[in-house]
Amino acid sequence: MADIQSITTQSLADIAGAASPDALEALRVALLGKSGSITAQLKALGALPGDQRKSAGEAINRARDVISEALAARKAALDDAALDTRLAAEILDVTLPGRDGERGGVHPVSRTMERMVEIFGRLGYELADGPEIEDDWHNFEALNFPPHHPARAMHDTFYFPDGRLLRTHTSGVQVRYMKDVKPPLRMIAAGKVYRSDSDQTHSPMFHQLEGLLVDEHSTFADLKGTITEFLRAFFERDFEMLFKPTYFPFVEPGADVVIKWDTADGGSRWLEVLGCGMVHPNVLRAVGIDPERYTGFAFGMGVERLAMLRYGINDLRAFYENDVRFLKQFA
Ligand code: PHE
Repeated sequence: MADIQSITTQSLADIAGAASPDALEALRVALLGKSGSITAQLKALGALPGDQRKSAGEAINRARDVISEALAARKAALDDAALDTRLAAEILDVTLPGRDGERGGVHPVSRTMERMVEIFGRLGYELADGPEIEDDWHNFEALNFPPHHPARAMHDTFYFPDGRLLRTHTSGVQVRYMKDVKPPLRMIAAGKVYRSDSDQTHSPMFHQLEGLLVDEHSTFADLKGTITEFLRAFFERDFEMLFKPTYFPFVEPGADVVIKWDTADGGSRWLEVLGCGMVHPNVLRAVGIDPERYTGFAFGMGVERLAMLRYGINDLRAFYENDVRFLKQFA
């Protein structure tokens, strides 16, 4: 029989030196496994003379217990160390600031529309709404575009097979509003309009803001004052302005408003920013308002066009490409 004492001493030293759970498991097998050295000692007991068997058996069993405990203790120590290493590596500092999420912003067209609505809101205009799929009566007929009138050709209209159409302007909302609300009235409407037209400054869908005021004594001077106030508030500056006579079937007289815009090279140029005029008596008649008693003015403008001027954007298509680098600038 090998010296059980020295086997034990050696085993305990090996166990203490086992650097990993795998090495420790290999040791356990080599000592206590089926063909381990302690197991071999137990098997050899049978060959001993009877009087020695008991004391030798007790010594081996004690050695096995000591080794088992040492294995268990070492395993616990190695597991603890492994856990500590993992905890150190996976540490989560909940006091660190969070990663920045992508933040969205209001689209520049919506933002511009909101700004316009807000300015007119301060002037007492009520926000109204109408459908984008409109009928001929509201979009044209009631606005004094008789059937086959050449002015209809100014709008490259998208038609549905049943004769309805995508509204070509927000002016139809004027008609809807006046059918509901009796004068004195002030309304604005903002939203999408559609024309079959597409290039750097035209898009088949764009946005308009419409305004209408009807009262007993409204005049062209009131219209001029309102538009001047609005443009000053919108651009936050003053500029020269002209009301140039033009034709829209639903107003008389009608005007294009042009403003003197400073260009980057230090010069300036005249830019058309909106259409307006005094509501045509035929329009008032179409909605049952007496044109002998009431007069009114109306105006309509392109939201993208004003947004382009305000933000210095020169290609209309930038609004619809959804390039986040472009959109981010307005967030
Ligand atoms: N509806 C006209 C357009 O789309 C604009 C306009 C509105 C002109 C109201 C005069 C009065 O061009």
